[in-house]
Amino acid sequence: MIDKATVQKITDTADIVEVVSDYVHLIKRGRNYVGLCPFHNEKTPSFSVNSVRNFCYCFSCKKGGSPVNFIMEKEGLSYHDALLHLAQKYGIKVEEKELSEDEKRQLNERESLLIANEWAANKMGKALIDTEEGRNIGLQYLYQRGVTDEAIKKFRLGYNLDSGHALADAAKLDGMDLKSLAEVGVLGVSQKMADSYYDRFRGRVIFPVLNPSGKVVALGGRDLKGGMAKYINSPESAIYKKSNELYGIFQAKSEIAKQDNCFLVEGYMDVIGMWQSGMENVVASSGTALTDGQIAMIHRFTDNITLIYDGDAAGIKASLRGIDMLLAHKMNVKVLLLPDGHDPDSFARENTPEQFRDYVKRHATDIIRFKAQVLLKDVGDDPQKRVAAIESVVSSLAHIPDKVKRNVYIQECSRILGVREEVIEGAVEKSRGVVIEQQRRQRQTSEINRLDQNESNPQPDLSKQLRPSKGREISEKYPYYPYERNVVYHCVRYGIIDFCEVEFEDGSHGMLNVAEFVAEDLQEDNIWFTFPAFAKTFNRILDLKEDFQNDNVTFNVNLEKEKKEMLKTGYDEIAAKDLSMEEIRRAERLLEDRINEELAQRRFEFARYYVEQKLSSHHDDDVRKTVTEAMNDEPPLSNIYIRNNPISERKMEIDRMKMLVPRGVLEWKNEMLNQMIRAKMKQLDNIIGRTSPEEEQKILMETQALMEKRGQLGKVMGDRTIGKKIK
Ligand code: CTP
Ligand code: MN
Repeated sequence: MIDKATVQKITDTADIVEVVSDYVHLIKRGRNYVGLCPFHNEKTPSFSVNSVRNFCYCFSCKKGGSPVNFIMEKEGLSYHDALLHLAQKYGIKVEEKELSEDEKRQLNERESLLIANEWAANKMGKALIDTEEGRNIGLQYLYQRGVTDEAIKKFRLGYNLDSGHALADAAKLDGMDLKSLAEVGVLGVSQKMADSYYDRFRGRVIFPVLNPSGKVVALGGRDLKGGMAKYINSPESAIYKKSNELYGIFQAKSEIAKQDNCFLVEGYMDVIGMWQSGMENVVASSGTALTDGQIAMIHRFTDNITLIYDGDAAGIKASLRGIDMLLAHKMNVKVLLLPDGHDPDSFARENTPEQFRDYVKRHATDIIRFKAQVLLKDVGDDPQKRVAAIESVVSSLAHIPDKVKRNVYIQECSRILGVREEVIEGAVEKSRGVVIEQQRRQRQTSEINRLDQNESNPQPDLSKQLRPSKGREISEKYPYYPYERNVVYHCVRYGIIDFCEVEFEDGSHGMLNVAEFVAEDLQEDNIWFTFPAFAKTFNRILDLKEDFQNDNVTFNVNLEKEKKEMLKTGYDEIAAKDLSMEEIRRAERLLEDRINEELAQRRFEFARYYVEQKLSSHHDDDVRKTVTEAMNDEPPLSNIYIRNNPISERKMEIDRMKMLVPRGVLEWKNEMLNQMIRAKMKQLDNIIGRTSPEEEQKILMETQALMEKRGQLGKVMGDRTIGKKIK
C-alpha cells in the first residue's frame, strides 16, 4: 500500500498534459488541447485534454479520465501500479505503507518470485547472444525459423546453456535465492542429492511470458533436440496462473487498443510470426482453451477478437470451442482459417507481410455465420444431425446479450440453415432464458462476495422499508438507478458549492452545500442511495466539506496576494501611459472590474472542480468510476460560453444547478411514489373481497395518501424550485 499523503502528492503532481503527451501529439486549442485518440484508430482528433481540470476525454470512444485513469487504461495497469508509474515519471519517492505480517509475507513471496524470474529471463537472454553455445545453437535455431533480431529483443527470447547447472551456478554466484528459483521452476531440486539444484530448461530456447505490466510471470522452453517434451513451461505459482495469462499481451496491448481488434493464436512462435508480419495486436492462449480471465484481459483493450486456426479438421473444431463464452462477454468474434497445414508462424514465413495481411482481410469470417456453415456441411441427409446442428447454433445465439444483434443473426442463420426464422427465434428466446438464469446466478455469487468485502454503508439508520435488504438489493436491480445516478452526477459537478442558508434549531445560521442539501432532502423522506457505488461516492463527497473549507482558505489567501500583484501591474501600466486624470480613473475602474470578475470566476471554478479533482483519482474503483463517468457525461453547453462571456456562463451554470439539483431529487421521489402506489393498488386488487372491510379501507386510505403526496410533489416540480429553502 502507498500511504495517503504520497498518493495525494502523486495525483497533485501528475499533469494531464504531460502524461498524455508521452503517448499523443497534442495541439493547443483554446484552454484545451486536442490530439488523435490513443485508445482507438482515428484520422481526425477527438481526444481532448483539459489542463485546468487535469482530465482527458475521447468524444468518440468515451475513454479517459484523470492521469491515473489514463495510465491504467493505456498501460493496462492496476490502480496501485499506475500510481507507481506516475511516481517514477515525476521522481516522487514512494513509501509503501506498513503492511500486516501476513500481507508482507505474501507480497514478499510474490516479489521474490518475480525477482527470480526476471533474473533468469535476463541471464538466458544474455546467454543467447553473448555465449558461443547460445549463438551456435539457440540463435542459429531462431534464425533458421526466420526470427529477426528485433523480435528477439522485443520478446526477450533467450537460451539456457546445456551443461545442466549453468544457471544454478550463476545463481549461487549472484547470491540469488535458490528456493525462489526452484519455486518458479527455473531450477529443479535433485532427488538423489539433497540441496543440489539443476537447470530445468537446459538446452532450450526460452520464451518469457510477461503479464500486462511487463513482469516475467513464467517461462516457456522450446526443445531443440527432438526430445519428448516439445515445451517445458513454468509451473503454477503465486505469480502464475496459466489460465489467466496471455502470451504477448504486454507487447500487444497498445496496438490491440489502437487497432480495436485482437488476434488470438495458439503458440509462442505464432505470436512472433504475426508480429513480424506487422500484425502486432496478437496474443496466444498457449495451446489451451480460452478462459474467462483471458477474455476479460483482452476486453480491457477491445471488443473485437479474431481467432486464427489451422484450416484442418482439428483447427475448425478448436475454433468452435469457447465461442459461447466470448459471445456472452459481448465480444464481436471473427474466425480466420489458414490454408490446411499452416499455422500463423509457417504462413508468415511463406508469405510476405502484405500477402498475409491481405489474406486476413479477405478471409476473416463472422463466427456465427462460420459455425452455421461448418455444421451444415456435416449434416448431409441425416435428420438427427440436422437437429443437433440447429440446436448448437441456437445455443450460441442465445448467448448474445444484445437483442438487435441477436435478431440480425437469427435472420442470417435461418437463411443458412434453411429453417424458418420464427422457429429459430422461438428456440433462441427459450434458450436465452436458461442462459440468463445461469449468468444471474453466477453474478449473484460474485456480487455477494464483493459486497461482503466492501465497507458497510455508513447510513444504517435510514428508512428500512425503502431500502431493500442486501439480497433483494442485488436481485431487484435497483429500480431507482437512473434517478440516483442523475443526482449523484449533479453532486460530482456541484456538490461542494454553497447551495442555501439554513436556520438550525438553536437559531444559528449556516450554509448547506449542494451535497448536504441533497442529503437533507433525501432524509426528509427517509430515502438514500441504494446503488452501492453511488452511495459510496455520495458519502465521499459529503466527507470533503472540511477539507474544502481548509483548502479554500489557503486558496483565497493566495488569490488575494495575486490580486494585489495584478492590480499593481495594472496601475503601473496605466500610469506609464500618457492619460488625463479622467481617463486614468476610468481605466483603473475597468481594470478593477476585470480583475474582480476574473477572480470570481476562478473562485467559482475552484469549488466547481473541487470534487472531481479530489475524487477522480480515488483508490476505490467504484468511486473513481462514478466520478469519471459523471465528468464524461457533462452537457457540452458550458464550453461554448466560457470563452466569450465568463460572467453569463458562471451565472448561467449556477442558475441551472439551482434548478437541476432539487428537480433531480424530486424526480426520484416521484418515481418512488409511483412505484409505491402501483404496489398498493396491486395489493388492493389481491385482497378485495377476501379480507375485512376495515383492512380494505385502511389500504385504500394509504393509497390515497400516497397519491395526494404525489400531487403535491407534482406542483412543486412545476414550480421548478422549492421556494422554502433556496435563497
Ligand atoms: N504447448 C505447451 N506444451 C507443449 C506443447 C504446446 O505449452 N508440450 C503450448 C505452447 O505455448 C505452444 C502452443 O501450445 O506455443 C502451441 O503448440 P504447438 O503448435 O505444438 O507449438 P508451436 O508453438 O507451434 O511450436 P513449434 O512451431 O516450434 O513446433
Ligand atoms: Mn508452430
